[in-house]
Amino acid sequence: MRRGFTLWMTGLPCSGKSTLASALAPRLRELGKNVEVLDGDVVRTHLSKGLGFSREDRDTNIRRIGFVCHLLSRNGVVAIGAAISPYREVRAELRAMIPDFVELYVKAPLEECIRRDVKGMYARALAGELKEFTGISDPYEEPAVPEIVVETGRMGVDESVEHVLAELARRERI
Ligand code: ADX
Repeated sequence: MRRGFTLWMTGLPCSGKSTLASALAPRLRELGKNVEVLDGDVVRTHLSKGLGFSREDRDTNIRRIGFVCHLLSRNGVVAIGAAISPYREVRAELRAMIPDFVELYVKAPLEECIRRDVKGMYARALAGELKEFTGISDPYEEPAVPEIVVETGRMGVDESVEHVLAELARRERI
């Protein structure tokens, strides 16, 4: 069985994690990979249902997603985790737990994320209606040395996908 791995996406809300994950998954499948995407927004409707956005709850959410990614990737699956995962410490925990861990920083300037504001949440956070919102009233700790960085403000989706695939190939993951 070919080794799987965990591709862990971290980044601000609206940085493009979900978009990139859903564009990347079919490309990896074309290469014969079994792929599973664990998206924070989706996971929070079942596996992490009831969790909020305190540091403790976010860390619990990330540990759960990371644990599932671990199980999947050791069984040959390419597990893509796509959650804000704002805290460096818990990301380091995942890195220590998962032997094949590739951190992907989905990077976009805060102003660009605010401009995109897909669900209108930045507007609510800026108006003071939404507490603990990442980037506005809650921290986001950038990864220090991620394996891959995609700057979604500079690259389109297709270009970002190609960049990630090239980096994965260079690291002999695919
Ligand atoms: S994480 O911090 O625990 O990694 P996760 O990626 O699962 O977050 O969930 C983020 C999603 O929850 C966002 O896409 C947004 O739709 C929603 N959300 C609701 N409240 C907040 C908040 N206070 N901060 C960030 N995201 C929030």
